[in-house]
Amino acid sequence: MVDDRLRHIAFIMDGNGRWATKRGLPREMGHKHGAAKLKDVLKHCKEIGVKVVTVYAFSTENWKRPETEVNALMKLFNSYLDQALEEFMSYDIKLKFIGDINRFEDGLREKILKAENSTANNSLILNIAVNYGGRSELASAFNKLIAEGKTSITEEDISKAVYTYGCPDPDMIVRTGGDMRISNFLLWQAAYSEFYFTDTLWPDMSADVIDEAVRAFYSRKRRFGGL
Ligand code: FPP
Repeated sequence: MVDDRLRHIAFIMDGNGRWATKRGLPREMGHKHGAAKLKDVLKHCKEIGVKVVTVYAFSTENWKRPETEVNALMKLFNSYLDQALEEFMSYDIKLKFIGDINRFEDGLREKILKAENSTANNSLILNIAVNYGGRSELASAFNKLIAEGKTSITEEDISKAVYTYGCPDPDMIVRTGGDMRISNFLLWQAAYSEFYFTDTLWPDMSADVIDEAVRAFYSRKRRFGGL
């Protein structure tokens, strides 16, 4: 079980495409298996006592992918929202989408808002980052503060203006797929996050890999700039 030092884990779910290609499958199949894996990951995080899970599902840069892949991902988000809602209720998961959902078509946007409303009273928070970019999040936070008439901005103002307001910052960010970079994810919130990188491709993510990341987290000494 985790304690208050590890309330929030964020995942960069990378490696879906490679997982599919290795099996001679279209990349979209990797995303499909990745979406199924997310449910197992949430279940395990809940079992070990994590309070907030954030996942990077679609970045502001992912629109550059071929249209077929973008369309497949949109379809997947739609069907995920249709069929996972019941499970979110039974797992006590409160859904929150972070990112600019205005670029999505009306049907998907409505499903997102409906899912957020229906799960609003649950307790384990699941932030799904869609059309999300850390730089764009910060730019819109600054614009919001300017629009409010602020002429000088504090760190607290920014924390209140980003999508994750009300959530603790991620204590650990886990990236699957072998790359060691942040890819424009939670730039503001990651100031003191511990990073854990694994070669495991997201559709192969398992409770064992999460437990290994948790062990690594507890073996580190977090000083937050102090001694
Ligand atoms: C990165 O792998 C993954 C994505 C861009 C999409 C992530 C989406 C899911 C895991 C499934 C859907 C999620 C929800 C919430 C329903 P990649 O395609 O960049 O993999 P690669 O590096 O092997 O090419």
